[in-house]
Amino acid sequence: MGLIIFNSVEATQAFGESWATDLTGGEIFALHGVLGAGKTQLVKGLARGLGYKGDVTSPTFTIVHEYRGGRLPLYHLDLYRLKDENAGIDIGLEEYLPSDGVTVIEWPERLASILPPQTRHWELEVASLTERLIRQRE
Ligand SMILES: Nc1ncnc2c1ncn2[C@@H]1O[C@H](COP(=O)(O)OP(=O)(O)O)[C@@H](O)[C@H]1O
Ligand SMILES: [Mg+2]
Repeated sequence: MGLIIFNSVEATQAFGESWATDLTGGEIFALHGVLGAGKTQLVKGLARGLGYKGDVTSPTFTIVHEYRGGRLPLYHLDLYRLKDENAGIDIGLEEYLPSDGVTVIEWPERLASILPPQTRHWELEVASLTERLIRQRE
């Protein structure tokens, strides 16, 4: 698919929204990129695409947010504060790999060795104040 440039928050969200169309449950998205790269904005769009009506906020302190009420449950993991893989296993994160719904993981490198092979890896980069680059890792 190559490199995609998004010039606004709305464009990034619209891309996440477009992912929702053909999801059936069990998909796992790993979003790589620094703080502020737009990972959570992508998840907001995906939640909207799945028909979720509520707010989507970063689960930085709780590790997992579950969004229900859309076409499929959405599980949003932010592993920024996860100490190591064992800590992730201790709190039951394997349950989301895969889940009955759609799993999206910020800071996925924190659980690298237990991410299943079907995980779709995306890399996000900050290009400027308002531009983000997104590419799928082959
Ligand atoms: N094109 C863009 N796409 C996404 N976010 C953008 C864009 N331009 C600026 N931003 C800003 O960058 C920040 C992205 O935040 P967020 O999605 O929470 O990042 P992350 O979850 O990767 O840490 C937000 O403050 C947003 O307003
Ligand atoms: Mg985030």
